[in-house]
Amino acid sequence: MTAGLPITALPTEPFVYDYPGAHDAVTYELENRIADPDARIEAFMDRLLPMDGRVVADVGAGGGFHAVRYAQRAAHVFAVEPAPKMLAQLHRRIAAEPGEIAARISVLAAGAEAIPLPGESVDILHSRLAYFFGPASDRVRSCEPGIAEALRIVRPGGRIVIVDNDLREGDFATFLRDFGPDDLALADRLDQFWSAHGFTGTTVMSEWRAPSRKALGRVLAMEFGEPAAAAILTRIDGARFRHAYRIYHRQR
Ligand SMILES: C[S@@+](CC[C@H](N)C(=O)[O-])C[C@H]1O[C@@H](n2cnc3c(N)ncnc32)[C@H](O)[C@@H]1O
Repeated sequence: MTAGLPITALPTEPFVYDYPGAHDAVTYELENRIADPDARIEAFMDRLLPMDGRVVADVGAGGGFHAVRYAQRAAHVFAVEPAPKMLAQLHRRIAAEPGEIAARISVLAAGAEAIPLPGESVDILHSRLAYFFGPASDRVRSCEPGIAEALRIVRPGGRIVIVDNDLREGDFATFLRDFGPDDLALADRLDQFWSAHGFTGTTVMSEWRAPSRKALGRVLAMEFGEPAAAAILTRIDGARFRHAYRIYHRQR
C-alpha cells in the first residue's frame, strides 16, 4: 500500500454542501430505499473488512439511513453530519430505533474536515456520496482535508471507503453526463486523484428499483430537476435502471 501524496490543501472553514434531500426528507427517504436495494455496497465493504463488532464512522451521514443499518452489526457508529436539517432527520431516525440500536449510534455535528474523534479510534470510515466539500469546479482537490482527517481517525489496519458515482458505466452515469456537469474526463481525474492518495477504485454495479415510475420520477426530479427527470424517464422501461458506484478504498 502506498503512503499517498502529501496533503497540501487545508481549509480555513468547512464547506457544507447543501444536498436537496436535506429539504425534502420524504423524497430523500424514497431515494435511499430504491437505490442499491440489494445492498451491494455493504456486501463489497464486508469483503474488505467485515463490519461486525467494529467501530464505524459514517461521514456525511445525511438522514442516517445507512448509519442505523450499520449499527445493527457494528460495535458503534459515529454519524458525522454538518447540515442542520440533515441532523434533524438523523436524530428523528435514531429516536425511532429500538433502544439497543440507538445506544450504538453517536451523532457528531461536524464536517469531514474536522471530526471530533481521537486519532486511531475508528475501524471503518464510510462516506457515501458525500465526498465533495468544495465548489464543483474544484470537486477533486476539495476532498483533501477530509482525507487527512480520515487517515487521522482510522486505526492502522482499518479501512477508508469512499462511495461515489461511477461516471463511465451503467445508466446513471449517462444521466450524470447528459444532464449534469460530469464527463469522462472527470472520471479519469477522480481515479488519478484517489490513486495518488493510495486508494484503489473498484466499480460495483447495482441498480435503482422503484415501486413505480411515479416514485422514480419524483426522486429523479429531486436529483436532476423536473425537465431532466422527464427526459430520463423516456429512456427507461419500467421503474428500474443500472447504477454503477465507483468505490475508492484503502487500508490505513
Ligand atoms: C448526497 S448526501 C448523502 C448522505 C448519505 N451519505 C446518504 O447516502 O444518504 C451528502 C451529505 O453530505 C453532507 N455534507 C455536506 N457537506 C459536508 C461536509 N463538509 N462534511 C461532511 N458531510 C457533508 C450533506 O449535508 C449530506 O448529508
